[in-house]
Amino acid sequence: MRGVFLKVTFIIRMAGPQMSVRYPVVFLAAAALSACGGSTAALAPSAADARWAAREWPGTTQQDLEAGRSLFASRCSSCHALPSPSEKTPTDWDQTVQGEMGARARLSAKDRNLVAHYLATVSQRTQPSGG
Ligand code: HEC
Repeated sequence: MRGVFLKVTFIIRMAGPQMSVRYPVVFLAAAALSACGGSTAALAPSAADARWAAREWPGTTQQDLEAGRSLFASRCSSCHALPSPSEKTPTDWDQTVQGEMGARARLSAKDRNLVAHYLATVSQRTQPSGG
């Protein structure tokens, strides 16, 4: 009995990396890559975006949006793939970045504003009501 048990666990060990671990990992990696490649995750802010942002938060410039974009790309991608700005409404982005995710990314209050404003602005383009 003991021999059979050992043999079965050996077979499972041999098969394990291929059958139950490697394929899902490859699949997840491919899914993450295609999600990145096809998304608008790091969409550049336009002049029209800057005008919209300046109405929402007076004094906001296109450079501020660019700064938010690069912080978003560098600080929000360490734990998971970059989310697409179109995933959330401007209000939801504000809550997410000012709250839990801003804390997880250890962003200062100023950087939270930059990231939240960038995401809200780019997301607003995709909202039916314009934000
Ligand atoms: C230290 C790791 C870490 C960092 C850095 C991080 N996140 Fe997350 N994020 C997580 C984890 C873990 C989850 C899933 C668990 C959860 O929803 O709380 C998540 C989930 C999310 C989700 C989906 C859930 C939701 O709230 O809608 C979004 C969107 C998100 N993160 C955005 C961001 C943004 C934007 C940043 C940068 C400001 C960021 N994350 C930085 C760990 C991180």
